[in-house]
Amino acid sequence: MLLAFLGAIAYSGFVMGWQPPGHSEHVDPARLAEDPHFGQPSVKEVAPGRYEAYVVARAWSFHPGDIRIPKGSTVSFRVTSADVTHGFEIVGTNVNVMIVPGFVTQVEQRFDQPGQYLILCNEYCGAGHHFMQARIIVEED
Ligand code: CUA
Repeated sequence: MLLAFLGAIAYSGFVMGWQPPGHSEHVDPARLAEDPHFGQPSVKEVAPGRYEAYVVARAWSFHPGDIRIPKGSTVSFRVTSADVTHGFEIVGTNVNVMIVPGFVTQVEQRFDQPGQYLILCNEYCGAGHHFMQARIIVEED
């Protein structure tokens, strides 16, 4: 049975080319500083009410730390890791993805309720794992 399951994983990965969830592109984790987006992780308004957030997870914090947006905004998060596998969970939403070095994970979320949303790392990533968090502050406009 173990060999059958291992075979199925190898087949889906190498033959069918399956990737981590939300995978959109590759990026070199050792050269993030030179990347036009991940070199300066930030949040930008790309259209009225639409934001693009480039986030780098690095043991043991997220960059940028706090993200401020007005309520009713839709944010497209593009997240990658500079070192090891991290998690990216936004408490109170359906966003809960794995951040794998070398891959960009993309996920979109609309924020209609003002308040603070906690971003947590939910993959064990070392001694400081339980400190790894950030916030999204959704402001009343
Ligand atoms: Cu990053 Cu746990």
